[in-house]
Amino acid sequence: MRILIVGNGGRESAIGWKLKQDPRVKKLYFAKGNATTEELGENIYEESIPELVEFAKSEEIDLAIVGPEAPLVDGIVDEFRKNNIAVFGAGKKAASLEGSKAFSKRFMQQYGIKTAKAEVFDAYAMAIEYVRQQQFPVVVKASGLAGGKGVVICEDLEEAEATIHDFMIRRVHGVAGIQIVIEEYLQGFEASIIAFSNGEQLFPCVPAKDYKKVGDNDRGLNTGGMGAVAPSPEFNGMHYADFERNIMKPTLEGLKAEGLNFKGMIFFGLMVTRDGCYLLEYNMRFGDPETQVLLPLMENSLLDVIEDCLEGKPVDLKFSDKKAVCVVMCSGGYPRNIEIGCEIRGTEKVEDALVFFAGAQKSGKHIVTSGGRVLNLVALGDTYASARAKAYDEIKKVSFDYGFYRHDIGKVNDK
Ligand code: AMP
Ligand code: GLY
Repeated sequence: MRILIVGNGGRESAIGWKLKQDPRVKKLYFAKGNATTEELGENIYEESIPELVEFAKSEEIDLAIVGPEAPLVDGIVDEFRKNNIAVFGAGKKAASLEGSKAFSKRFMQQYGIKTAKAEVFDAYAMAIEYVRQQQFPVVVKASGLAGGKGVVICEDLEEAEATIHDFMIRRVHGVAGIQIVIEEYLQGFEASIIAFSNGEQLFPCVPAKDYKKVGDNDRGLNTGGMGAVAPSPEFNGMHYADFERNIMKPTLEGLKAEGLNFKGMIFFGLMVTRDGCYLLEYNMRFGDPETQVLLPLMENSLLDVIEDCLEGKPVDLKFSDKKAVCVVMCSGGYPRNIEIGCEIRGTEKVEDALVFFAGAQKSGKHIVTSGGRVLNLVALGDTYASARAKAYDEIKKVSFDYGFYRHDIGKVNDK
């Protein structure tokens, strides 16, 4: 089979790595890919949806898989379908559950999905009037896609008013912030559950944990993800039963009632509080960096699972009992201004872990940094402690100027 994977992050490296293990996969193309995907297949430079449709037709692509949210929200899946190209991912309408926080919040409210209390605003004056009556902290969210920067936890009224002004009047996130959601602040721990959809049913992977803050012990700015661990060390069977009943089941009912059914991935971003699980957000795709820890634990062929979903068949997901720890190595300055073009050394010395490049490209004989999150190093072990020890032993072998990573990924109290 000839497969096209859209995206260029660590997630797409992991998807390509997993697919490549299936002997039916003859050729992988990545748009635009990175240093890992260049080894797994061919990186292509077509970018717009019409260009990708043309590429898929001319290269006789048998299946396309879409990683990032932007092309999904822009309707890439609908265009591929129109052209009779098999594609795995949410259509434009379903992708608005990620592309519009206003739409997804209304969906959650309408279908009784357990979520934080919130109101949607299109008018600045009304948002200000409302926020003046709230308790703090309060969470202000730009409705549209803002590259992970559209959520601010406001500690007091002054910060909340300034954030609403930044989003709605100064438009620091462009049109993404014209409409906002003001939400109750929830305290707890977060978990990510990513499920395959066959258009009728959802098939969840084991729960994972993402580390969003740049610094050790969850200090500093939010990032695209500094690491991940699977299964989540905190999410237990009781939490899962709560999630299934109060979030996953009503979500499926809502998807059916609204005609939003799709064959692709759905990601539940959860906050687990003393009152149980709340849904913070949907992402309509594989998570990054969660995919980098889930796929190495998955015992099924990813191609079989995707094909079964596309045919509307049930799938029986199997995960190993091992633990997976992913440490993300970043460019100096991330998530603010970064320098790129630094040579990455030592990845060939990594023996007992996987290296999935993300913001890294080949340049002649070398691999150089080309983004904020440069590479993902993933280690497996029988315990969290052994997976974590292996990950940190191996990542010591890798270096580039100003590169850094968190030191506490996968730290839990087990032996
Ligand atoms: P979202 O894109 O809505 O998932 O928000 C991004 C991040 O902001 C989440 O992963 C949480 O860390 C945080 N966050 C979002 N909503 C809330 C909330 N209601 N209470 C506390 N933290 C939140
Ligand atoms: N790890 C969160 C995301 O993929 O958006």
